Amino acid sequence: MIVLGIETSCDETAAAIVTDAREIRADVVLSQLDDHTPYGGVVPEIAARAHLEHLDGLIRRAMAEAGIGFGDLDAVAATGGPGLIGGVIVGVMTAKAIAAARNLPFVAVNHLEGHALTARLTDDVAFPYLLLLVSGGHCQLLAVEGVGRYRRLGTTIDDAVGEAFDKTAKLLGLGYPGGPLVEKAAARATNPARFELPRPMLGRPGCDFSFSGLKTAVRRHVEELGGVLSEADRDDLAAAFQATVAEVLADRCARAIRRFKEDHPQGGALVVAGGVAANKAIRSRLATLAEKQRMPFVAPPLRLCTDNAAMIAWAGIERFRLGESDPLNFAPRPRWPL
Ligand code: KG4
Ligand code: ZN
Repeated sequence: MIVLGIETSCDETAAAIVTDAREIRADVVLSQLDDHTPYGGVVPEIAARAHLEHLDGLIRRAMAEAGIGFGDLDAVAATGGPGLIGGVIVGVMTAKAIAAARNLPFVAVNHLEGHALTARLTDDVAFPYLLLLVSGGHCQLLAVEGVGRYRRLGTTIDDAVGEAFDKTAKLLGLGYPGGPLVEKAAARATNPARFELPRPMLGRPGCDFSFSGLKTAVRRHVEELGGVLSEADRDDLAAAFQATVAEVLADRCARAIRRFKEDHPQGGALVVAGGVAANKAIRSRLATLAEKQRMPFVAPPLRLCTDNAAMIAWAGIERFRLGESDPLNFAPRPRWPL
Protein backbone atom coordinates (compact mmCIF):
# COMPACT_ATOMS: atom_id res chain seq x y z
CA MET A 1 0.00 0.00 0.00
CA ILE A 2 1.40 3.43 -1.00
CA VAL A 3 -0.08 6.58 0.53
CA LEU A 4 0.48 10.29 -0.10
CA GLY A 5 0.41 12.37 3.10
CA ILE A 6 -0.16 16.13 3.27
CA GLU A 7 0.45 18.41 6.29
CA THR A 8 -0.53 22.11 6.32
CA SER A 9 -1.93 22.75 9.82
CA CYS A 10 0.66 25.28 11.02
CA ASP A 11 3.75 26.83 9.43
CA GLU A 12 5.22 23.76 7.73
CA THR A 13 4.09 22.78 4.24
CA ALA A 14 4.82 19.07 3.87
CA ALA A 15 4.21 16.10 1.58
CA ALA A 16 5.36 12.50 1.98
CA ILE A 17 5.05 9.08 0.40
CA VAL A 18 4.89 6.17 2.87
CA THR A 19 4.16 2.46 2.46
CA ASP A 20 2.42 0.03 4.81
CA ALA A 21 5.80 -1.75 5.08
CA ARG A 22 6.89 1.30 7.17
CA GLU A 23 9.03 2.66 4.39
CA ILE A 24 9.30 6.43 3.96
CA ARG A 25 9.81 6.75 0.21
CA ALA A 26 9.82 10.58 0.29
CA ASP A 27 9.41 13.20 3.00
CA VAL A 28 9.66 16.87 2.03
CA VAL A 29 9.06 19.75 4.43
CA LEU A 30 9.14 23.43 3.60
CA SER A 31 9.40 25.65 6.65
CA GLN A 32 7.78 29.09 6.36
CA LEU A 33 10.03 30.41 9.11
CA ASP A 34 11.34 33.36 7.08
CA ASP A 35 7.79 34.47 6.25
CA HIS A 36 6.80 34.66 9.94
CA THR A 37 10.01 35.68 11.72
CA PRO A 38 9.43 39.45 11.29
CA TYR A 39 6.16 39.04 13.26
CA GLY A 40 7.63 36.95 16.09
CA GLY A 41 5.12 34.14 15.55
CA VAL A 42 2.95 32.40 12.96
CA VAL A 43 0.51 34.70 11.11
CA PRO A 44 -2.41 32.46 10.00
CA GLU A 45 -3.25 34.38 6.82
CA ILE A 46 0.38 34.42 5.64
CA ALA A 47 0.65 30.69 6.44
CA ALA A 48 -2.46 29.80 4.42
CA ARG A 49 -1.25 31.75 1.38
CA ALA A 50 2.22 30.17 1.57
CA HIS A 51 0.70 26.65 1.77
CA LEU A 52 -1.36 27.44 -1.33
CA GLU A 53 1.69 28.68 -3.20
CA HIS A 54 3.99 25.75 -2.37
CA LEU A 55 1.92 22.62 -1.77
CA ASP A 56 1.47 21.47 -5.40
CA GLY A 57 5.21 21.78 -6.06
CA LEU A 58 6.05 19.85 -2.88
CA ILE A 59 3.68 17.01 -3.79
CA ARG A 60 5.27 16.84 -7.24
CA ARG A 61 8.72 16.71 -5.61
CA ALA A 62 7.69 13.96 -3.18
CA MET A 63 6.24 11.85 -6.02
CA ALA A 64 9.41 12.33 -8.09
CA GLU A 65 11.66 11.39 -5.14
CA ALA A 66 9.59 8.25 -4.54
CA GLY A 67 9.68 7.50 -8.28
CA ILE A 68 5.91 7.08 -8.55
CA GLY A 69 2.95 8.63 -10.34
CA PHE A 70 -0.60 9.30 -9.09
CA GLY A 71 -1.62 5.96 -10.58
CA ASP A 72 0.58 4.14 -8.04
CA LEU A 73 -1.20 5.59 -5.00
CA ASP A 74 -3.65 3.57 -2.91
CA ALA A 75 -4.99 6.50 -0.86
CA VAL A 76 -4.46 10.18 -0.03
CA ALA A 77 -4.26 11.38 3.59
CA ALA A 78 -4.26 14.99 4.75
CA THR A 79 -4.34 16.70 8.14
CA GLY A 80 -8.04 17.50 8.69
CA GLY A 81 -7.40 19.42 11.93
CA PRO A 82 -6.79 20.65 14.55
CA GLY A 83 -4.81 23.67 13.38
CA LEU A 84 -4.93 27.04 11.68
CA ILE A 85 -8.04 26.61 9.59
CA GLY A 86 -6.89 28.42 6.43
CA GLY A 87 -3.92 26.09 6.10
CA VAL A 88 -5.94 22.97 6.93
CA ILE A 89 -8.43 23.90 4.18
CA VAL A 90 -5.61 24.16 1.61
CA GLY A 91 -4.30 20.67 2.48
CA VAL A 92 -7.72 19.03 2.65
CA MET A 93 -8.94 20.57 -0.63
CA THR A 94 -5.76 19.47 -2.42
CA ALA A 95 -6.09 15.91 -1.10
CA LYS A 96 -9.77 15.78 -2.02
CA ALA A 97 -9.01 17.01 -5.56
CA ILE A 98 -6.41 14.26 -6.09
CA ALA A 99 -8.75 11.66 -4.58
CA ALA A 100 -11.66 12.78 -6.77
CA ALA A 101 -9.59 12.98 -9.97
CA ARG A 102 -7.96 9.57 -9.42
CA ASN A 103 -10.89 7.86 -7.73
CA LEU A 104 -8.80 7.20 -4.59
CA PRO A 105 -9.91 6.91 -0.96
CA PHE A 106 -9.38 10.07 1.12
CA VAL A 107 -8.41 9.92 4.80
CA ALA A 108 -8.69 13.02 7.01
CA VAL A 109 -6.09 12.61 9.74
CA ASN A 110 -6.17 14.20 13.18
CA HIS A 111 -2.78 15.97 13.45
CA LEU A 112 -2.41 14.75 17.04
CA GLU A 113 -3.04 11.17 15.93
CA GLY A 114 -0.22 11.69 13.42
CA HIS A 115 2.18 12.55 16.27
CA ALA A 116 0.71 9.80 18.47
CA LEU A 117 1.31 7.00 15.94
CA THR A 118 4.74 8.12 14.63
CA ALA A 119 6.56 5.68 16.94
CA ARG A 120 4.81 2.79 15.17
CA LEU A 121 6.22 4.01 11.84
CA THR A 122 9.77 4.50 13.12
CA ASP A 123 10.04 1.75 15.76
CA ASP A 124 7.14 -0.65 15.17
CA VAL A 125 5.95 -0.08 18.77
CA ALA A 126 3.09 -2.39 19.84
CA PHE A 127 -0.10 -1.26 21.59
CA PRO A 128 -0.60 -0.37 24.38
CA TYR A 129 1.95 2.36 25.14
CA LEU A 130 2.12 5.43 27.31
CA LEU A 131 2.50 8.58 25.22
CA LEU A 132 3.76 12.00 26.26
CA LEU A 133 2.57 14.31 23.48
CA VAL A 134 4.34 17.65 23.73
CA SER A 135 3.98 20.22 20.94
CA GLY A 136 3.31 23.90 20.35
CA GLY A 137 -0.40 23.58 21.04
CA HIS A 138 -0.64 20.45 23.20
CA CYS A 139 0.71 18.80 26.30
CA GLN A 140 -0.95 15.48 27.13
CA LEU A 141 -0.30 12.09 28.64
CA LEU A 142 -2.25 9.38 26.83
CA ALA A 143 -2.63 5.64 27.13
CA VAL A 144 -2.58 4.60 23.46
CA GLU A 145 -4.55 1.35 23.34
CA GLY A 146 -5.13 1.11 19.59
CA VAL A 147 -5.74 3.22 16.49
CA GLY A 148 -8.42 5.71 17.55
CA ARG A 149 -8.29 4.45 21.15
CA TYR A 150 -6.63 7.12 23.27
CA ARG A 151 -7.28 7.48 26.99
CA ARG A 152 -6.21 10.81 28.43
CA LEU A 153 -4.39 10.56 31.77
CA GLY A 154 -3.33 14.19 32.01
CA THR A 155 -3.24 17.51 30.19
CA THR A 156 -2.06 21.07 30.74
CA ILE A 157 -4.31 23.36 32.74
CA ASP A 158 -2.81 26.45 31.05
CA ASP A 159 0.00 26.71 28.45
CA ALA A 160 1.26 23.91 26.20
CA VAL A 161 4.90 23.12 26.81
CA GLY A 162 6.04 24.25 23.32
CA GLU A 163 4.15 27.49 23.90
CA ALA A 164 6.09 27.92 27.18
CA PHE A 165 9.36 27.42 25.26
CA ASP A 166 8.28 29.96 22.63
CA LYS A 167 7.17 32.57 25.20
CA THR A 168 10.32 32.10 27.28
CA ALA A 169 12.44 32.53 24.15
CA LYS A 170 10.66 35.82 23.50
CA LEU A 171 11.26 36.98 27.09
CA LEU A 172 14.96 36.13 26.72
CA GLY A 173 15.14 37.96 23.38
CA LEU A 174 16.05 34.75 21.53
CA GLY A 175 13.45 35.06 18.77
CA TYR A 176 11.21 32.54 17.05
CA PRO A 177 10.71 29.56 17.04
CA GLY A 178 11.62 29.34 20.69
CA GLY A 179 12.22 25.65 21.36
CA PRO A 180 15.40 25.05 19.36
CA LEU A 181 16.81 28.50 20.32
CA VAL A 182 16.26 27.90 24.06
CA GLU A 183 17.93 24.50 23.69
CA LYS A 184 20.98 26.06 21.98
CA ALA A 185 21.24 28.82 24.61
CA ALA A 186 20.95 26.26 27.43
CA ALA A 187 23.79 24.25 25.93
CA ARG A 188 26.04 27.35 26.14
CA ALA A 189 25.22 28.03 29.83
CA THR A 190 28.24 28.22 32.12
CA ASN A 191 26.26 28.35 35.39
CA PRO A 192 23.03 26.41 34.85
CA ALA A 193 22.34 26.25 38.62
CA ARG A 194 22.40 30.04 39.01
CA PHE A 195 18.63 30.66 38.75
CA GLU A 196 16.01 28.94 40.88
CA LEU A 197 12.63 28.45 39.19
CA PRO A 198 9.39 27.04 40.65
CA ARG A 199 8.53 23.48 39.65
CA PRO A 200 4.77 23.74 38.96
CA MET A 201 2.64 20.71 39.96
CA LEU A 202 5.71 18.76 41.10
CA GLY A 203 4.63 16.02 43.51
CA ARG A 204 0.92 16.91 43.19
CA PRO A 205 -1.58 14.09 42.68
CA GLY A 206 -2.86 13.43 39.16
CA CYS A 207 -1.01 13.77 35.88
CA ASP A 208 -1.90 17.33 34.83
CA PHE A 209 0.65 19.99 33.84
CA SER A 210 0.93 23.74 34.36
CA PHE A 211 3.53 25.99 32.75
CA SER A 212 2.26 29.56 33.01
CA GLY A 213 3.80 30.11 36.49
CA LEU A 214 7.17 29.05 35.15
CA LYS A 215 6.99 31.61 32.37
CA THR A 216 6.02 34.29 34.92
CA ALA A 217 9.02 33.34 37.09
CA VAL A 218 11.34 33.74 34.08
CA ARG A 219 9.81 37.18 33.47
CA ARG A 220 10.45 38.15 37.10
CA HIS A 221 14.13 37.18 36.82
CA VAL A 222 14.42 39.21 33.61
CA GLU A 223 12.89 42.22 35.39
CA GLU A 224 15.20 41.79 38.39
CA LEU A 225 18.14 41.91 35.99
CA GLY A 226 16.86 45.33 34.85
CA GLY A 227 15.35 43.98 31.64
CA VAL A 228 18.74 43.88 29.94
CA LEU A 229 20.34 40.44 29.77
CA SER A 230 23.97 39.64 29.13
CA GLU A 231 24.61 36.54 27.04
CA ALA A 232 25.55 34.65 30.21
CA ASP A 233 22.28 35.71 31.95
CA ARG A 234 20.29 34.60 28.96
CA ASP A 235 22.04 31.24 28.61
CA ASP A 236 21.83 30.46 32.36
CA LEU A 237 18.13 31.34 32.46
CA ALA A 238 17.45 29.21 29.37
CA ALA A 239 19.24 26.30 31.06
CA ALA A 240 17.23 26.75 34.28
CA PHE A 241 13.99 26.85 32.30
CA GLN A 242 14.81 23.75 30.23
CA ALA A 243 15.96 21.74 33.26
CA THR A 244 12.79 22.67 35.16
CA VAL A 245 10.55 21.66 32.26
CA ALA A 246 12.39 18.33 31.94
CA GLU A 247 11.99 17.73 35.69
CA VAL A 248 8.27 18.54 35.68
CA LEU A 249 7.61 16.37 32.59
CA ALA A 250 9.47 13.45 34.22
CA ASP A 251 7.51 13.86 37.49
CA ARG A 252 4.16 13.86 35.67
CA CYS A 253 5.24 10.88 33.53
CA ALA A 254 6.28 8.94 36.64
CA ARG A 255 2.75 9.32 37.99
CA ALA A 256 1.18 8.39 34.66
CA ILE A 257 3.41 5.28 34.49
CA ARG A 258 1.94 4.08 37.79
CA ARG A 259 -1.59 4.41 36.44
CA PHE A 260 -0.65 2.92 33.07
CA LYS A 261 0.87 -0.14 34.74
CA GLU A 262 -2.22 -0.65 36.91
CA ASP A 263 -4.44 -0.64 33.82
CA HIS A 264 -2.01 -2.59 31.63
CA PRO A 265 -0.16 -5.15 33.74
CA GLN A 266 1.34 -6.59 30.53
CA GLY A 267 3.31 -3.32 30.25
CA GLY A 268 4.24 -1.21 27.27
CA ALA A 269 6.73 1.42 26.12
CA LEU A 270 7.08 5.04 27.17
CA VAL A 271 6.85 7.06 23.95
CA VAL A 272 7.43 10.78 23.46
CA ALA A 273 6.13 12.70 20.43
CA GLY A 274 5.53 16.23 19.12
CA GLY A 275 7.87 19.14 18.44
CA VAL A 276 9.19 19.43 22.01
CA ALA A 277 10.24 15.77 21.81
CA ALA A 278 13.10 17.05 19.62
CA ASN A 279 14.69 18.51 22.78
CA LYS A 280 17.71 16.39 23.75
CA ALA A 281 17.68 17.30 27.46
CA ILE A 282 14.03 16.27 27.72
CA ARG A 283 14.62 13.06 25.76
CA SER A 284 17.50 12.09 27.98
CA ARG A 285 15.57 12.86 31.21
CA LEU A 286 12.68 10.67 30.00
CA ALA A 287 15.07 7.89 28.91
CA THR A 288 16.47 7.79 32.46
CA LEU A 289 12.97 7.61 33.92
CA ALA A 290 11.95 4.77 31.57
CA GLU A 291 15.09 2.81 32.43
CA LYS A 292 14.35 3.14 36.15
CA GLN A 293 10.80 1.96 35.53
CA ARG A 294 12.04 -0.89 33.32
CA MET A 295 10.05 0.33 30.34
CA PRO A 296 11.35 0.53 26.76
CA PHE A 297 11.75 4.20 25.75
CA VAL A 298 10.95 5.30 22.22
CA ALA A 299 11.56 8.77 20.78
CA PRO A 300 11.25 9.21 17.00
CA PRO A 301 14.16 10.78 15.09
CA LEU A 302 14.21 14.59 15.56
CA ARG A 303 12.96 15.23 12.00
CA LEU A 304 9.82 13.18 12.66
CA CYS A 305 9.11 14.86 16.03
CA THR A 306 8.40 18.28 14.53
CA ASP A 307 5.59 18.65 12.00
CA ASN A 308 5.95 16.52 8.88
CA ALA A 309 3.76 14.67 6.38
CA ALA A 310 5.24 11.18 6.85
CA MET A 311 3.36 10.92 10.16
CA ILE A 312 0.14 11.98 8.41
CA ALA A 313 0.61 9.40 5.63
CA TRP A 314 1.33 6.76 8.28
CA ALA A 315 -1.73 7.59 10.42
CA GLY A 316 -3.72 7.46 7.16
CA ILE A 317 -2.34 3.95 6.51
CA GLU A 318 -3.17 2.82 10.06
CA ARG A 319 -6.78 3.96 9.65
CA PHE A 320 -7.19 2.88 6.03
CA ARG A 321 -6.02 -0.69 6.69
CA LEU A 322 -8.72 -0.92 9.38
CA GLY A 323 -11.23 -0.09 6.66
CA GLU A 324 -11.65 3.59 7.57
CA SER A 325 -11.72 6.54 5.17
CA ASP A 326 -13.60 9.83 4.95
CA PRO A 327 -16.20 11.24 2.54
CA LEU A 328 -15.22 14.05 0.18
CA ASN A 329 -17.57 16.40 2.06
CA PHE A 330 -15.42 16.11 5.21
CA ALA A 331 -15.29 19.56 6.85
CA PRO A 332 -11.85 20.73 8.12
CA ARG A 333 -11.81 21.09 11.91
CA PRO A 334 -10.02 23.96 13.67
CA ARG A 335 -10.51 22.04 16.94
CA TRP A 336 -10.40 18.26 17.11
CA PRO A 337 -9.55 16.66 20.45
CA LEU A 338 -8.08 13.16 20.29
O1 KG4 B 1 4.70 19.47 16.75
P1 KG4 B 1 5.17 20.82 16.33
O2 KG4 B 1 6.19 20.92 15.24
O3 KG4 B 1 3.94 21.72 15.92
C1 KG4 B 1 2.72 21.64 16.61
O4 KG4 B 1 1.91 20.73 16.28
O5 KG4 B 1 2.56 22.44 17.56
O6 KG4 B 1 5.71 21.55 17.66
C2 KG4 B 1 6.20 22.86 17.61
C3 KG4 B 1 6.67 23.24 18.98
C4 KG4 B 1 7.10 24.71 19.08
O7 KG4 B 1 6.52 25.28 20.23
C5 KG4 B 1 8.61 24.60 19.21
O8 KG4 B 1 9.16 25.68 19.94
C6 KG4 B 1 8.79 23.29 19.92
O9 KG4 B 1 7.80 22.45 19.36
N1 KG4 B 1 10.12 22.73 19.69
C7 KG4 B 1 11.02 22.52 20.68
C8 KG4 B 1 12.21 22.05 20.04
N2 KG4 B 1 11.97 21.96 18.70
C9 KG4 B 1 10.68 22.39 18.51
N3 KG4 B 1 10.95 22.72 22.01
C10 KG4 B 1 12.04 22.45 22.74
N4 KG4 B 1 13.23 22.01 22.20
C11 KG4 B 1 13.34 21.79 20.87
N5 KG4 B 1 14.49 21.37 20.36
ZN1 ZN C 1 2.48 19.06 15.49
